[in-house]
Amino acid sequence: MSVHSNARKVTTHTLQEMKRAGEKITMLTAYDYSLAKLVDRGGVDVILVGDSASNVMAGRDTTVPMSLDHMIYHAQCVERAVDRALIVVDMPFGTYQGNSAIALESAIRIMKESGGHAVKLEGGSEIVESVQRILSAGIPVMGHLGLTPQSIYKFGTYTVRAKEEEEAAKLIEDAKLLEESGCFAIVFEKIPAHLAKQVSEAISIPTIGIGAGQDCDGQVLVLHDMLGITTDFSPRFLRRYLDLETQITGAVQQYCEDVRSGDFPNEEESY
Ligand code: KIV
Repeated sequence: MSVHSNARKVTTHTLQEMKRAGEKITMLTAYDYSLAKLVDRGGVDVILVGDSASNVMAGRDTTVPMSLDHMIYHAQCVERAVDRALIVVDMPFGTYQGNSAIALESAIRIMKESGGHAVKLEGGSEIVESVQRILSAGIPVMGHLGLTPQSIYKFGTYTVRAKEEEEAAKLIEDAKLLEESGCFAIVFEKIPAHLAKQVSEAISIPTIGIGAGQDCDGQVLVLHDMLGITTDFSPRFLRRYLDLETQITGAVQQYCEDVRSGDFPNEEESY
């Protein structure tokens, strides 16, 4: 389905209605104008300007170094392209943990300077004061539980989270706390499918899974992974819809060959 500019804009309210109606929510990341335009035309409900930009745009190993200025830049590029999807912007590491006044200031900068519609924060009870302060300013907040990549140096690995009872119990409590605080949705990253199902049924706000099974209210993938641009990353949860690495390198090789052989440009391509 191609969605045109007069399509009804997706809001946080739309997502809640979708959960109530049992309609699955679609979410993908985007970081730049050209791809965000295509993702929006493809009909995705939510575009996440993820701090995974640190990995796929900047080539870093983790999301930890991402700056607020860089997130705002990527979100500005995406916002110019999007007609329909709800745009959620990740708050980068160091802009909301431990100090809710700084968190509010960072969220306000994102909203005013980027034109995004909501922010996403990683964590539960540890950051709930920041979540509540941002919400009190009228800024919609999406939570993120399970594998939270900004805490990679605490976890030590990117493996599945909340397999043990204690961590699963904390995740359930955190999800309820985020719901009570007023978050409009929560991302569950890399947790057991049965746990994601249990929590999705227990809370009234939508859950969006990545490596969290089919019973979340929606799904999210990193765009560059599902398009097959980043082929060095192959977790079990990832479905690749294209093999753009092969197609793009093939096109570049062909172009080089055509220029070197004198085939490009031909007469029709000249003035
Ligand atoms: O930054 C990101 O892309 C994310 C998704 C993996 C949910 O947070």
